Amino acid sequence: MPLKKQAKPVKKPDAPVKKAPAPINLVRGMKDILPADQPVWDLMRDKARELSQAYGFERIDTPFLEETGLFVRGVGKLTDIVEKELYSFETLGGEHVSLRPENTASIVRSYIQHGMLNLPQPIKLWYLGPMFRYDRPQHGRYRQLHQFGCEILGEGGAVVDAQLVFISWLFLKELGIEATVQINSIGTPESRANYRNALVAYFRTRRNKLSEDDKKRLVKNPLRILDSKDPAVQELKAEAPQIVDWLDEDSKAHFMRVLEFLDELRVPYELNPYLVRGLDYYTRTVFELYANTTDNDLAQAAVGGGGRYDGLSEVLGGRPLPGAGFAMGLDRIASLLKESNAPVKSEKIDVFVAQLGDQGRKRAFSIFEELRKSGIPAAEAFAKDSIKAQMEIANKRGAKLVVIIGQKEVLDGTAVLRDMDSGTQEIIDVRKVIHEIHKKLPQIEAH
Ligand code: HAM
Repeated sequence: MPLKKQAKPVKKPDAPVKKAPAPINLVRGMKDILPADQPVWDLMRDKARELSQAYGFERIDTPFLEETGLFVRGVGKLTDIVEKELYSFETLGGEHVSLRPENTASIVRSYIQHGMLNLPQPIKLWYLGPMFRYDRPQHGRYRQLHQFGCEILGEGGAVVDAQLVFISWLFLKELGIEATVQINSIGTPESRANYRNALVAYFRTRRNKLSEDDKKRLVKNPLRILDSKDPAVQELKAEAPQIVDWLDEDSKAHFMRVLEFLDELRVPYELNPYLVRGLDYYTRTVFELYANTTDNDLAQAAVGGGGRYDGLSEVLGGRPLPGAGFAMGLDRIASLLKESNAPVKSEKIDVFVAQLGDQGRKRAFSIFEELRKSGIPAAEAFAKDSIKAQMEIANKRGAKLVVIIGQKEVLDGTAVLRDMDSGTQEIIDVRKVIHEIHKKLPQIEAH
C-alpha cells in the first residue's frame, strides 16, 4: 500500500534551537587499541601464551577490582603507586576498593585464599591484562596499561630468579627486540634497613644539594632517592654507599648463583647497584629490562621488571612463601614493535562467499556457516549488493576460491565455484560445495 504523503511540519518561530551535544572523548591517559593496532597486540599475546605454556606456567585471571588494603599492604603505603597512583573509591556498600595497579599482590592473595599451598609446588602462573595507575600521562605512560607477567610461587632457589629473567628477556628477543637486563640484589628487609640508615646518613650531610622532592623521599622512602633524575643526585650517587656492601651472606651467595645462571643462559645483563624498584615487596633479586632503541623516551623507560618477593605472603596474612616474577609493559613493547615494522600475521582467507539477491544471500549465509564449521578460513560481505564490489573484496583478502550464489543458483540447487588464479568457473551441486572446496584447495596450493 502506498504510504500517504505526509505534510511537512511547520516550524514554529519560537521553537528552541537544539544544540548538538558535545562529543565525548577518551578519559585522559586512556587509549583505544584500534583494529589496525591489533596485529601487533596479537603478536605479543601469542608469544606470551606460547612461552608461558612452554615453560610450564598456567593462566590465571584475577579481578580488576580488589580491596584497597591489598595494595596498601602488598605494594606498600609509602610507594608512589599507592600514595599517588591508585584509582580508589568507596562502593555503594561502603567497601574501599581499588583498580589493580599491578597483579603480583592479587596473585599472592589468590594463592592464599584458594589454598594453593596444598598443591604440588612450585605454582607457576601467568597473566595478561590491564592495570590502572593514575600516573602523569606521557609517551609510553598510560593510566590503563597492559602487562604480561609470570610468577613462580613456593620455590626460593636462585635458578627460579634466573629463569624468570631469561623468559622476560626471551619474550622481547623473540619479538625482535634486543634488550638489556639491569639487575641488583636488595637483600633481606634487615640488610636493607641497615643500608637505608647508611644512605640516609650519607644524604643528610648533603641535604642542601637535594630538591624538595628528594628531601621528602629522604624522610619517607630514602631508597627511592636512588631513582631521582636530578643531576645533583646523579653526581652524589657516585660516592653513595652501595647496597651490595650491606647484603647478608645468604643474599650475596643467592645473587652470585643468579648471575652464574644468567651467564650460562647468555642473557646480557648489567649490574646496577642503584636499582631498587618502586614496590615494597621485593627481597633479594630485582631486575628491569631496557630496549636498545633510538627512541629516547622509550630507551629510558623500562619495558619490564620484576624480582623476588619472599615476604609478600606473610604481609598479606599467609604463611611464609618464597615467590618471584616479572611483568612486561605491553604498551611500550607495542610502540617498539610498530616503530620496527615487525612482521605481523595477516588474516589470510581461502574462500570468499559472494551472493546476489535476497534468496542468494540466505543460501550464502548457510554456506558460509558450513565453511566456518569445517575450519576453512572464509569471508563474506553480506551487506554488499554488487557482485563487482564483492569480487574486489575477495581479491583484496587473497581468496583462492569464490562461491557465488545468485537467484538462478538457488532455483537450480547449484553454486558457481570460481578459481581466482585461473579465472575458471564451474557449476556444482550446492550440497557438494564443502566437499569440492576441500578437494580443490590442496590442488591450488600445490601449484
Ligand atoms: P612494574 O615495574 O611496576 O612492576 O611494572 C612492570 C612494567 O609495566 C614496567 O616495566 C613498564 O614497562 C610497565 N608499566 C608500568 N607503569 C606503566 C604505565 N603507567 N604505562 C605504561 N606501562 C607501564 C610490576 O608491576 C610488578 N608487579 C612486576 C612483578 C611481577 N614483580 C614480581 N612479579
